[in-house]
Amino acid sequence: MIRTEGLVRQFGDVVALDHTNIEIKKDQVTVILGGSGSGKTTLLRMLSALDAPTHGSVWFGDEDLAQLSSKRLYELRGKMGMVFQYSALLNSLNVYDNVAFPLHEHSDLDESVIQTMVQMKLEQVGMRGFEQLMPSELSGGMAKRVAFARAMIADPDVVFFDEPTSGLDPISAGIVTTLIHDITKKTHMTSVVVTHDVHAALEIADHVILLWQGKVIAEGQADAIAQSEDPRVVQFIQGRPDGPIPFSRSKTPYHEDLLRVRL
Ligand SMILES: Nc1ncnc2c1ncn2[C@@H]1O[C@H](COP(=O)(O)OP(=O)(O)O)[C@@H](O)[C@H]1O
Ligand SMILES: [Mg+2]
Repeated sequence: MIRTEGLVRQFGDVVALDHTNIEIKKDQVTVILGGSGSGKTTLLRMLSALDAPTHGSVWFGDEDLAQLSSKRLYELRGKMGMVFQYSALLNSLNVYDNVAFPLHEHSDLDESVIQTMVQMKLEQVGMRGFEQLMPSELSGGMAKRVAFARAMIADPDVVFFDEPTSGLDPISAGIVTTLIHDITKKTHMTSVVVTHDVHAALEIADHVILLWQGKVIAEGQADAIAQSEDPRVVQFIQGRPDGPIPFSRSKTPYHEDLLRVRL
């Protein structure tokens, strides 16, 4: 469904993505796993056409995103839903208006139709009955579920999630990840989940892609990743500070960094 080819994204000297090749398959939950700064958010922004590569390309079906007219890109983006890291609900709108927002902005549907659509999505995420609450009255897990309902409101082909469990307690995190998995399967949606949460990832993924410094270092089904003997993979999965993945990313030796400090 979506494929990257030799994807490079640089920010000045920082190479956030380094010739990254990945494939997102239809009707699957693909989890992009990696530590902080490994390039996950950058990759998600490329896949969802929010940002453009420095080199290489992103293919959506048989279309190269970089070659598309802005009209076609706009149409394609209509097939994508996005759940941002901090839910990004609009604080001045209640739950109903947040979920209905994309339809209010981009469709001419009657309000009665919009109401039905909002009800259906809120039901799917277990938030029906909370329409009148304001974002400030929601727990982190509830806000995530509302953001998920909003991302699905126009029945997208693919939904992207950036760190859907970060900041949530284990029970809320479990509810959110289970919802992502179940809704993907029940509605034949495609989900791309970016996370550093190994436990959640291995539980819900059909396909796992492990990123390290912008490169794919392991890829496959969850159990294959869990059993990998690649020391970098083992270190990440077990969450150990010592191993081939440096705990500190400074390129200069520690004593040089210290000597450079001016008081
Ligand atoms: N807009 C930006 N400007 C400069 N550097 C950036 C920008 N976005 C990301 N980076 C850098 O690219 C690398 C990857 O970042 P990111 O994709 O946010 O990682 P992750 O989501 O895995 O934590 C980091 O070193 C980060 O500092
Ligand atoms: Mg990130």
